[in-house]
Amino acid sequence: MRTQVVIVGAGPSGLLLGALLGKAGIDNVILEARSAEYVLGRIRAGVLEQVTVDLLDEVGVGARMHAEGLPHDGIDLCFGGRRHRIDLHALTGKRVMVYGQTEVTHDLMDARKASGQTTVYEAEHVSIHDFDGQRPSVRYRHGGQTHTVEADFIAGCDGFHGVCRASVPHERIALHEKVYPFGWLGLLADVPPLSHELIYVNHDRGFALCSMRSRTRSRYYVQCSLADQVEQWSDQAFWDELRARLPEDAVAHLVTGPSLEKSIAPLRSFVCEPMRFGRLFLAGDAAHIVPPTGAKGLNLAATDVGYLAQGLVSHYKGNGSDLDHYSERCLRRIWRAERFSWWMTSLMHTFPTNGSFDRKVQLAELDYLVNSDAASKALAENYVGLPM
Ligand code: APR
Ligand code: PHB
Repeated sequence: MRTQVVIVGAGPSGLLLGALLGKAGIDNVILEARSAEYVLGRIRAGVLEQVTVDLLDEVGVGARMHAEGLPHDGIDLCFGGRRHRIDLHALTGKRVMVYGQTEVTHDLMDARKASGQTTVYEAEHVSIHDFDGQRPSVRYRHGGQTHTVEADFIAGCDGFHGVCRASVPHERIALHEKVYPFGWLGLLADVPPLSHELIYVNHDRGFALCSMRSRTRSRYYVQCSLADQVEQWSDQAFWDELRARLPEDAVAHLVTGPSLEKSIAPLRSFVCEPMRFGRLFLAGDAAHIVPPTGAKGLNLAATDVGYLAQGLVSHYKGNGSDLDHYSERCLRRIWRAERFSWWMTSLMHTFPTNGSFDRKVQLAELDYLVNSDAASKALAENYVGLPM
């Protein structure tokens, strides 16, 4: 098989890139290791910046998002038992769209199917070849046979554990990483959200987050120990812990119910530099990870592939300079989002090694943040997303 761009991975990065290229008439093939059902079964965050909404609109998959998504004008920060609203819209003129990553993936998958472009699910033993030369290719096994796709370029959209970044020789890549000493225990339930906006909670017992997927489906998180096993946490234990971290007025509105899903995720900051190696481009989680506190993961994935599609479109029009600047353009935006996600994580969680001094400084920063217009605005403009 021969194509212009072979995309490894059918998560949001790979699917959105395929859609952007398809719209520009650039032929592409997506190879995904898992089944479509497996990809859709992964529960991830769901706060979309305006730039992400715009990219989804650009490829014509925005209809359900606009009908079912929930535009939010603010968030609550909670500490010392009190809630403080950050009015994102008043501070920035922008809002965010709450619409689950699963739904975004679903919409992109449906559009891809309708477009007739090739997607191979359950592609086994994917390996990438000759990305430094003029004729890169990707090999994989499917239906008991080995196949080869020859292409002009390879897009590594295969997530943190993928094969593309792992295929780059160590000496050509710089990795920057920070692992946090806690995890998030998340619970999804068909209960109405406790509030119409998200609530981020700083509490002596640890961080908590009240989020949602719709007006009838809620997503809650509590900071937990990395040693915890999800089986140790009954639904009852989860709800009790969440209640203990919420202020009284919020607890009064908490509706509990059986979990649809419960899982523990570790928190990590990670960036690899550069993001281009010859004819191989990394995008999304393959190149960087942010802790979920700032809700930036999906948005960074979307803007990476936005830049990559722009670069490839210019290349095929005879201008290679956008493609040459791919890494640098992405990394500038990525590092700013890494900084924000690290800052918000540091601000909102309890750290096992922190003493009373660190705790007091954290509370003083929160106090400053909610009482200073300048500080609130700095939070708000990062939360709604810096320009692309
Ligand atoms: N061959 C083919 N596909 C692979 C391989 C491989 N060797 N390894 C991994 N994959 C697939 C995974 O199964 C997955 O479907 O690549 C896809 C990568 O998708 P994601 O992990 O969702 O990454 P990305 O598309 O970059 O999306 C980033 O996901 O983790 C969240 O917060 C993050 O919201 C952000 C988004
Ligand atoms: C989520 O709904 O899963 C979510 C929302 C906001 C975050 C992180 C996760 O900051």
